[in-house]
Amino acid sequence: MESIRSLISVLAPNSVLAPKTCLIAVCLFASGALMPAYAAAPEPARGERAMVVSPHAVATEAGIEMLEAGGNAVDAAVAAAFALGVAQPQSTGIGGGGFLLIRLADGRAVALDARETAPAAATVDLYTREGLPPRASTLGGLAIGTPGMVAGLALAVEEYGTLSLAQVLAPAIRAAEDGVVFGAYQARFLGFVQRPEFVARFPETARIQFPPGTTASTRKRQPELARTLRKIAQDGPRAFYEGEIAEAIVAATQANGGILTTADLAAYQPRLREPVRGTYRGLELLTFPPPSSGGVTMLEVLNIIEADDLAASGAGSSASIHLIAEALKWAFADRAVHLGDPDFAEIPVARLISKAHAKELRSRIGERAGAVEGPGYAVDDKGTAHLSVADAAGNAVAFTGTINGPFGSFVTVPGWGILLNNEMDDFVTDPEGTNLYGLQGRRDSANLVEPGKRPLSSMSPTIVLQDGRLRFVAGSNGGPRIITSVLLTLLHHFDWDMDVAEAVSFPRFHHQWRPDRIQLEGAHPADVQMALEARGHEVKRVDEITTGVQAIAVDPETGELRGAPDPRRDGLAKGY
Ligand code: GLY
Repeated sequence: MESIRSLISVLAPNSVLAPKTCLIAVCLFASGALMPAYAAAPEPARGERAMVVSPHAVATEAGIEMLEAGGNAVDAAVAAAFALGVAQPQSTGIGGGGFLLIRLADGRAVALDARETAPAAATVDLYTREGLPPRASTLGGLAIGTPGMVAGLALAVEEYGTLSLAQVLAPAIRAAEDGVVFGAYQARFLGFVQRPEFVARFPETARIQFPPGTTASTRKRQPELARTLRKIAQDGPRAFYEGEIAEAIVAATQANGGILTTADLAAYQPRLREPVRGTYRGLELLTFPPPSSGGVTMLEVLNIIEADDLAASGAGSSASIHLIAEALKWAFADRAVHLGDPDFAEIPVARLISKAHAKELRSRIGERAGAVEGPGYAVDDKGTAHLSVADAAGNAVAFTGTINGPFGSFVTVPGWGILLNNEMDDFVTDPEGTNLYGLQGRRDSANLVEPGKRPLSSMSPTIVLQDGRLRFVAGSNGGPRIITSVLLTLLHHFDWDMDVAEAVSFPRFHHQWRPDRIQLEGAHPADVQMALEARGHEVKRVDEITTGVQAIAVDPETGELRGAPDPRRDGLAKGY
């Protein structure tokens, strides 16, 4: 009775309730506690023509506004991305970077890489030198990489959109001027950030982002950020990278001990890359290439498990979790050594995503937890956000944006309201030892700090096709947990036949090789944990795998679009 799905049939064999209602009830029953994430799982939103799903209603509405104004999925995704940076600034925004995976109705696909770069003065020992302040790679000026978001989103609209940059920026400017209600998800961060040491060290961030007395219903206005967005709308993206905004960014960074220069900003260029492509049980997957680790790692896992009968072992069962966790361990071990910025190192993508490599790794997986040797990497991330868009013409965009940790470096540019990233911590910052999360580095990693290099990411915007037609669009926030959460959502939908809302809501687990343990969301039945422990796994129960998948599924028969925001976040799916 360990599978959550088999629990449904045992507890409610003749139930007239919809399967999802039963699933939610079982999750509540099994966890012994109210789990608001699943209790709030909505029916999918439905649309005949278009769909936008994001973790914030303001961003979803921005995307819908563009579609209704005649824009395409790229216009909608860019407008939603700018608006999300205003509505959820602790996660993403113009002080950070992101990835857009674009698949056009005519069959063209591109991976637009707007990842931050290391400043030119960065060195491999940037974070291991004597005399650095504590947490230098995560807090303050030294943590800041050259932001890529503005250049990347502007390029997307110019190359693949139909509206002007000013049009797609309009909803974000409005949101910054009129203000956005904090919301329950963001209010969760208040206890973390309103600590006296943050308020004293980063007064501008504290004043704008979490002034005293802030609650979930507080309306937050960001007039300085509105001014910045208006200037970009008026003068174009170079206004961010040159002139008074660039000078203010550099001044704020250097005042906080950073090394970013106006030359770094002036030199920043987004990249157009080939998506990484794979197959899984008759599906074609398009996902993000390095400097994302997401696409390669996810395809490696899918290849390893492809020949196993997942349908027979069942969603949420210890047999499925064991197999997927073992596959994750091997794929994440490859990630730690081989993956990094392809502009700086030869990345063996073809070998890593080959069926032959997967077969070799599958042969090493037995009935018990196996030892996989190698280094580890960063654990946690709440400062990222994903949105998915599909339009009436058949274009689709999966966008994930990030400033890395919650509130990034905590440095806000005075007068311009730009909250700057701490993406430098996504490099291996200490090749000899462990980083601040207790994670191990490695001297032969492809992800060591180098000037101008992009840090390795886990962001995994993904588009699934079948017979050349759109079937699924998804992505998530959550650092390395992004990879597992997107992977599980695909398995839930395609292998275990869940609708998109169930697939997004269903309890998740995570394994990332180091630390060598499975994290299991609390809604899993206790006997699943016991069975995994009996196989030799260390299991850590967590309230929530801190991810937020935003997904769209296309009904292969009718073409209807179904959208589901993650109930673990404050999102909204809207279609028409
Ligand atoms: N900063 C999170 C990621 O890129 O994976």
